[in-house]
Amino acid sequence: MNECVAVAHANIALAKYWGKADEARNIPAVPSLSLTLDALRTRTSVAFVSDLVEDEVVLDGRPAREKEGRRVVRMLEAVRTAAGLTAKARVVSANSFPTAAGLASSASGFAALALAASAAAGLDVSLREASSLARAASVSAARSLYGGYVELPAGAEFAEPLVAGSHFPLNMVVALTRAGEKAVGSTEGMLRTARTSPYYEAWVRQAPASCDRIRRAILDRNLEALGPAMEASALAMHASMFAADPPIVYMSPTTVAVMERVRELRASGVPAYYTMDAGPHVKVLTPPERAEEVAAALKAVPGTLNVIKCGPGPGASLEPEVSSTKPGTT
Ligand code: DP6
Repeated sequence: MNECVAVAHANIALAKYWGKADEARNIPAVPSLSLTLDALRTRTSVAFVSDLVEDEVVLDGRPAREKEGRRVVRMLEAVRTAAGLTAKARVVSANSFPTAAGLASSASGFAALALAASAAAGLDVSLREASSLARAASVSAARSLYGGYVELPAGAEFAEPLVAGSHFPLNMVVALTRAGEKAVGSTEGMLRTARTSPYYEAWVRQAPASCDRIRRAILDRNLEALGPAMEASALAMHASMFAADPPIVYMSPTTVAVMERVRELRASGVPAYYTMDAGPHVKVLTPPERAEEVAAALKAVPGTLNVIKCGPGPGASLEPEVSSTKPGTT
């Protein structure tokens, strides 16, 4: 069977998803809105091979660990069922950035896998269908099928593009503050928050209005409105986790130092705003002409290991030279 290769880029939520309306089907309880990033990229190849005894999954040059492999196999099962296939698959995936450190590697990974596996199985899926397949594996992955600014409504099965990155071409400077993987995965973290945090309900209640503010600011190209609304979404999400039992604290002393540096930059007239996900890294939104200056300032914070400058990225796609099937558009 033919090998298909897909490329997808990570996305960072400006309005955060944290919490499930339906755990079994993996449906989000809150709306989220993200920016797909050009510099954070996953390339995944899939081939269904008739003599394989089980699915083989290689991530960044090593066999996938059991937990990672389980979600991949679950998606492969869904694709096999849809295509009427029984053959096991060989999956090889590589990231251009650190895996599972809160840098959205699952988002780009499952988006690329959804496209590559569907094509390798001979399914002619639309981007919307690929987004739904990716969402079943990891909700944030639904957004990585599309480029630029992307929305995933509460209760939705697939993401939808809002506007192209060129509508409001901001940069995101990622400050890496720790090597290695996070202690609590995002799935476990959000389920614990929902079950034990007294603030979870309040988080879910305020999320639609927060997402509306963020969408409006993007459409208006208004960074002075977008920045504070984005920071508020991240801080409200982290506040809901702090109150979980046991508490979930992804921030490190360096995270807080970088947040402080961003506030100082702003006080000195540089438009820069932060957001943090299920990890200690800080992502800073700024106009492209200030990105160099922001990157240098974040790099100088003690504890920052590296910075990655990102612009708006494209949607997921199949590499034409090795694949014979193309996804349709919705
Ligand atoms: C903090 O999409 O990784 O990055 O659906 O359980 O796989 P699962 O969760 P996941 O959660 C991402 C959480 C976040 C915020 C976001 O990307 O919206």
